[in-house]
Amino acid sequence: MSSIAQTPTWSDDIAEIYYKNCSSCHHDGSIAPFELMSYTDAVVWAESTKHVLEENEMPPWPADPDYREFANQKILSDTEKQLVIDWIDNGTPEGNLAAAPLPPVFEPTGSLLDTIDLTVAIEPYTLQSNLDEYRWFVIPNPLNETVYVNKVEVMAGLPEVVHHADLNVDLSTNSYNNDLADPLPGFNNSVGGPSVSYQINAWQPGGGIARYPQGWGIRVDPGSYFIIEIHYGPGGIGLTDSTFMNLQFVKDTPENEIREIVNQWYLYDSAPVLTDGPLEIPAYEVKTFHQQRGPLATDWSLISICPHMHLLGKSYKVWAVDPDGNEIPLIDIPQWDIHWQKFYTYINPLKIPAGSWIYSEGVYDNTLLNHDNPNNPPVDVYRGLRTTDEMFLCYFIYSEYEEGDELIDMTEIIELQEPEPVNVIDYNALSWTILPNPATDWVQITTSNKINVLENFSLFSADGRKQTLLIDEIYNNKMRINVSHLDAGIYFISNGTSSLRLVISSR
Ligand code: HEC
Repeated sequence: MSSIAQTPTWSDDIAEIYYKNCSSCHHDGSIAPFELMSYTDAVVWAESTKHVLEENEMPPWPADPDYREFANQKILSDTEKQLVIDWIDNGTPEGNLAAAPLPPVFEPTGSLLDTIDLTVAIEPYTLQSNLDEYRWFVIPNPLNETVYVNKVEVMAGLPEVVHHADLNVDLSTNSYNNDLADPLPGFNNSVGGPSVSYQINAWQPGGGIARYPQGWGIRVDPGSYFIIEIHYGPGGIGLTDSTFMNLQFVKDTPENEIREIVNQWYLYDSAPVLTDGPLEIPAYEVKTFHQQRGPLATDWSLISICPHMHLLGKSYKVWAVDPDGNEIPLIDIPQWDIHWQKFYTYINPLKIPAGSWIYSEGVYDNTLLNHDNPNNPPVDVYRGLRTTDEMFLCYFIYSEYEEGDELIDMTEIIELQEPEPVNVIDYNALSWTILPNPATDWVQITTSNKINVLENFSLFSADGRKQTLLIDEIYNNKMRINVSHLDAGIYFISNGTSSLRLVISSR
């Protein structure tokens, strides 16, 4: 006897999956370029959704959950994924819409911290380029005593353009001098980063507030400089960003009981840690590198881990081996994606005993099969700070182990979190996106602007000739364009002040 699976419907099975796992980014004013806040939204995006689920691209969580689960894990279970795919394959039946769950409500809010001890803010910066921009802003530390940072809340000034915002401390005056030498606020990362520095936090949209156990914190001494490092995604030229970060310090804990947290790139990309360097990836090659470092001098309580590569990165796997030869899996990112890098937090602080070694394997793909390859034709790529150079680093956030650390429930600490706070968005400023890209039959342009300015858009082929723009449909701040008549190749869509690249793939 075989049981016939019932076809899933929007109202009974699917709506809650979308609202729980997708809407936090896919709602008006958040980072995703379109909404998944209704049955209609889900139907419009059904085909691409099936694709991103099959490829494990959404929700974005590049770490393999079978290798290591994390406290801040946001993924669909296999059952949920299959339900959505079955629903799409069966023609997206709506069920009983009147009985469907209601979409979540996202109110723009201010800070979610109960107290703020220090706000570190960039000087408002007007984006100079329509391509990716990497900018470092220097803020002299105004405090005259040592503090330990327990919480960091990032308020992105332009949530749709700020792709990463990291907080570092520079103990030298290098960055400060670089800033002085540049007439605009901050300086460009092509002149190099801070020299004697460590990281406090790495944030990306959806990342929420970084929180550590009570009484634990990252040390900041007087006389240092805060550095806010921001990666601006494409399409933001002319917009002004005013990102800031709210810090909460360890208080009410006697100095000698404070648990100092270290945030360090324990694995880095030169000898002796990089065992098969130098980090050079010849054009048209896929190349594998290894790192090893040890033995640890003390027991560690490892809180979080954050591997870092650039555009040619393909995979990054990290593990420890303890003195008895037992392997401790730390993280595996089988499909590296530069757009989604974050600190992954362990469910409980993970004990790594003194005497252990840390190992890694990283693969880089400098062929044209890598869609993120910035060079066509490929060129030889070397180690460096620019996004088109490569890096091979892994950050570790840890403290010296104390008995009982493995009982601390990091999920509980993280889940204090409420929905992502959204800074006030300037809807008169125009930023915009094109999706899908590459495209075959149609693309959707989404602008951050509520006012209808969509008719200013025009389409150009790579040789600069204007092409007919076939508008299918305009709704709110979205416009759907038919591109099925265009030959495969590279095009540009312009809104009069900025333009974005559109790739039409061969059909
Ligand atoms: C953490 C934020 C976030 C979450 C959660 C999220 N998305 Fe996305 N999604 C994005 C962003 C940003 C994009 C734009 C493309 C990009 O930058 O990767 C996107 C793009 C997409 C696309 C278009 C991909 C393409 O290239 O055509 C689809 C489809 C999609 N998301 C579906 C979903 C579904 C379904 C879920 C829930 C199961 C989900 N997303 C959860 C942020 C998110």
